[in-house]
Parts: sequence; C-alpha cells; structure tokens
Amino acid sequence: MAQKVRKAVFPVGGLGTRFLPATKAMPKEMLPVVDKPLIQYAVDEARDAGIEEFIFVTGRGKVTIEDHFDRSFELENTLEERGKDAALDTLAAHMPETGTVAYIRQREPLGLGHAVWCAKRYVGDEPFAVILADDLILSEKACLKQMMEAREELGGGNILASMEVANEHTSRYGIIKPGYDDGKKVEIQHLVEKPNPKDAPSNLAVIGRYILEPQVFDLLENQAKGAGNEIQLTDALSNLLKSSSFYGLRFEGTRYDCGDKVGFLQANIAFALNRPDMGREIANHIKELASTL
Ligand code: G1P
Repeated sequence: MAQKVRKAVFPVGGLGTRFLPATKAMPKEMLPVVDKPLIQYAVDEARDAGIEEFIFVTGRGKVTIEDHFDRSFELENTLEERGKDAALDTLAAHMPETGTVAYIRQREPLGLGHAVWCAKRYVGDEPFAVILADDLILSEKACLKQMMEAREELGGGNILASMEVANEHTSRYGIIKPGYDDGKKVEIQHLVEKPNPKDAPSNLAVIGRYILEPQVFDLLENQAKGAGNEIQLTDALSNLLKSSSFYGLRFEGTRYDCGDKVGFLQANIAFALNRPDMGREIANHIKELASTL
C-alpha cells in the first residue's frame, strides 16, 4: 500500500496583479466564488481528500488568509447573542483543527518551485500534495481525492492533475510528453514549462494539483531559474522523472482558471448555478440577459 498523503502545501505568495484594483489590499486567494474565498475551496478539497495538515507558503500582505483560518471571538459572540446558528455552523464547518495549520513566508517571489521548496522542513520525508487555489475545479468527487485513488491503484509515486488544452494555449501551462495512456492515467515521459505551441510535446497540460514524493525537495534546492526567470516546479519535476514514477490523471470535473478575470467570472456563474439555494434564480437571470443579446 502506498504511504498515506497527510500534508498539503498551498503556495499563496503571488501578487495577483491581474485582479488590480480588487487585490490591492486583499490577497487574490481571498476573492470569493459565490460566498467562499478561493483558498477555502482549496482547503475544503484537501480535507475531502483526507489531508490532515495544511501548510501555507505566504508573502507580504497575506495576513487575512491567516485570519480567515483562525477563530474570530468577537464575530462568534455577536452571532451567538443574535441567535444566528446557521452562520455559526458555516464558520465552524470550514475551520481546520487547531494545530494543523502552518504559515511560512516565502520572502522573495522566486517562483512556484521556490514556494514549494520553502515548505521542505514542514513536510519532512513523506509524500505531500500541492494545491494551487487559482485552479478551481467543479466536480462530484474532489479532484485531489480522485488523484489519491489513482495513486492507490498505482501503488504510490508522483501524480499530477492534467487535462487537454487548446493548442494555442500551451504557453500558459506545464505540458506533458505522454507515454502509456489508458485514457485516464497517462505515464509522463517528459515535462516542459510553458512551451510555444510549435515546441510543445502535446496539448496535455498540468493543472494545479500535485501529489509528490519528498525527493523533489533536493532537486528544488539546486534548481536553476527557468521560464519567466523563476524557479519552476515543472523543471524540478522533469528532473525527478529520471528516477521516479510519474503519472498524469485526467480528472473528472470542470476546471476554472480563477487567475484570469473571465475564468473567475465563469467559475462564479457555474458554482452559483450548481447551488440549490440560488441556481434557479441565476439560471432565469442568465436566460433573461441572453435573450437581449
Ligand atoms: C503553474 C505551473 C504550470 C501549471 C499551471 C496550472 O503556472 O507552473 O506548470 O500548468 O500552474 O495552472 P502559473 O499558472 O502559476 O503560471
């Protein structure tokens, strides 16, 4: 049986310049989709997949993320006095247990690979997950849980969430050179960060969910800067490929790129339509709007 994955790393140090001015004084990970911040979806997904410890790699201006996952006695007292039990339950339901959350400052924005490396001491010598909150996935079964199950079937190893993207968009993603492919699980032969379409080995992209073996930390330690002059996780993974088993999983669900304004708005619409308390009303409004186009 594969060693259990107990810890997840959430790189949340990015500046969110694409969402200015909304993100001037608020971390982009706190942008809400319907009524939950993006980072809360990521943590809920991790908990659904059995993760027990949550490691945030943060940066300056991100303290509201820490406040979000902390108790707010004043708010709780006020809600209690006013008998707002449902609101109190909502707050309690999303709170990781005391002692299971850690925050590390990345200090310098040197790239995703560097952010993950910052979590090295907290992860230690065990497999771990990485979740990028920008990639929001609407699915029946949490994407990370699907990956855990695939990993169980494979008996361990590294697994990355993957999906086909438009050929002209390969320069936005880590791209997989596929080997043996059963339609869901794809053996990864090689990985390239953000190749031009003409150099891309396929259009199968890495999406922001990873389950990794701890050996990646040693490679990250010495990883040279790559695309965008940043230390890239993809480059360290492509070195790890030489000695470790690696698979991509075509997950079931729809992925929204919430690092992009259009993707973020689409996510809001899709998640709202999926909600029993408002889906009908939103659908009616969309029909009304569409009829005027
Ligand atoms: C990161 C990774 C990239 C991956 C993407 C998924 O890129 O470096 O390999 O395909 O996330 O969203 P970023 O979007 O941070 O530029």
